[in-house]
Amino acid sequence: MHEHTLALSAHLQDAVVACFGESFAGIDPELRPATRPEFGHLQSNLPLRLAGPLGLPPREIGARLVDALDISTGSIQRLGELGTVELAGAGFLNLTWSPDVLGRAVGGLLTDPHLGVPIPVTTKRVVVDYSSPNVAKQMHVGHLRSTVIGDALARVLAYAGHDVVRQNHLGDWGTQFGMLVEELLGEDLDDPAAVADLDMSELLALYQRAKARFDDDADFADAARRRVVALQSGDPATLALWQALVDASMAEFDATYSRLGVLLTDDDFDGESRYNPQLPGVVEDLRALGLLTESAGAQVVYPDAFTGRDGAPLPLIVQKADGGFGYAATDLATIRHRVDDLAVDRVVYVVDHRQSQHFEMVFAVARAAGWLPDSVEVQHIGFGTVLGPDGRPFKTRSGETVTLTALLDAAEEAAASTYATPEVVRMVANAAVKYADLSNHLARDYVFDIARMSATTGETGPYLQYAHARVCSILAQAPQQTYHVHTLSHAAEQRLALELTGFAPVVAKVADTLEPHHLTAYLYGLATALTAFYENCPVLKAEGEVRQTRLALCEATRRVLSEGLRLLGIEAPQRM
Ligand code: ARG
Repeated sequence: MHEHTLALSAHLQDAVVACFGESFAGIDPELRPATRPEFGHLQSNLPLRLAGPLGLPPREIGARLVDALDISTGSIQRLGELGTVELAGAGFLNLTWSPDVLGRAVGGLLTDPHLGVPIPVTTKRVVVDYSSPNVAKQMHVGHLRSTVIGDALARVLAYAGHDVVRQNHLGDWGTQFGMLVEELLGEDLDDPAAVADLDMSELLALYQRAKARFDDDADFADAARRRVVALQSGDPATLALWQALVDASMAEFDATYSRLGVLLTDDDFDGESRYNPQLPGVVEDLRALGLLTESAGAQVVYPDAFTGRDGAPLPLIVQKADGGFGYAATDLATIRHRVDDLAVDRVVYVVDHRQSQHFEMVFAVARAAGWLPDSVEVQHIGFGTVLGPDGRPFKTRSGETVTLTALLDAAEEAAASTYATPEVVRMVANAAVKYADLSNHLARDYVFDIARMSATTGETGPYLQYAHARVCSILAQAPQQTYHVHTLSHAAEQRLALELTGFAPVVAKVADTLEPHHLTAYLYGLATALTAFYENCPVLKAEGEVRQTRLALCEATRRVLSEGLRLLGIEAPQRM
């Protein structure tokens, strides 16, 4: 379809030159989808835009352009094979594809397993850094968003032909492990095999006991600090218990990933601990580059153009006064690894928008140090907060942050009474949660309203799953070997066909902008066109070529819906 749109643009450009001269050569007709079905399929506001420069009324410009486009047949001009053009309103050109062009586009979709999405000549390697929960802590709603958004982006980028490396930057290192290991030893829980078997609630309880003692008992706090040193210097017994805690948490996270149906596996863990050996080198190299400054005993970098509220330069702390390395040092080491060892072209960090300044400063320091060449693009994809019904950040009644598991439980509970099998309940619950999350502009906060998210009407995940299941059931009643598109004679057939041609452009748009809501909105539009098609065009009761054509439209829609939902990480059952 893209080539037809280009041809249409070229025709319009030729017409402009023919009517108004070479000085307007190359003007972009800015073809946009028509805002209403009665305006045809595409619209251009060329006459309005040319009115100023030409000093002519827009409708007069439009009339001349329409005349120039082809032989007149009444008020509607033919654009040869492509379709028709009509002057409308204050000076719009309404364009309508010919049924032939649309029919061929649907035929093309049916023969292309990749649904018209081009594979780029040169693939780019893209790291998507997402999910990234912290060991011995629950995944909370913020991690839900990172996991859902990151997974959709990883899928879309891969589908668009990129070489995607998923990295789950697990928080598996840091001073809290001193206190956790010390608590294990104090409680005689020193068998690593037993520790690795702890489940999430046991890990959390351990964390809380350790934290309480750390805050109350100065001797324990000292022992915990010494334990951090033992961990960093590689003491085997300490390392074994740390590893057991990491293993226990990873098993819990993996269980959540498979429940959510996301792509992340054990192989994608790329935790902070992995970079620990590189951290002294990061500091040394920054010092050698003359970028390091001492501030109250800490080693910091002042990247250009970062100032605090008081206007004073903002430091990025790479080594704390006590000699420990922090989050920023690890992220710098991670960038070096990704650039030097993974040879990435692009890194996408899917992390809560509250960390945006951290990432901006890390990126600035990495650029200044020459570790991040201009050819490598780094982007922090921040996102807003999930709110409770009261419009405030989602908390439990006792004021704790809501865990991911609790959210999924609520979604499954909402679906449980409606669907027959546990598998479908799980799919519907995931669809409700994921679609609601992905259909907002990323930066926007949204209210976690499980009743609205799970509804089967309106713009929801379950509504799209229904649309898919319904088209599957029609197709199952008339199994075909191959599908044939004959003339698309009904306007609702043509509109559905037009919607189908939008799949490839929207995939490209999401891969480029990293905004999944374009794809959710596209699929909703497609499902709406499908409903209008059913209302106007009986499929199974039709005969001959009409029936064949309608079945082919159903099949193409089924494929696009199922692939589109899959790219959002949403499973679409055949029956619900
Ligand atoms: N573990 C961090 C957190 O829960 C997120 C890590 C994000 N990735 C990164 N490269 N810093 O806040």
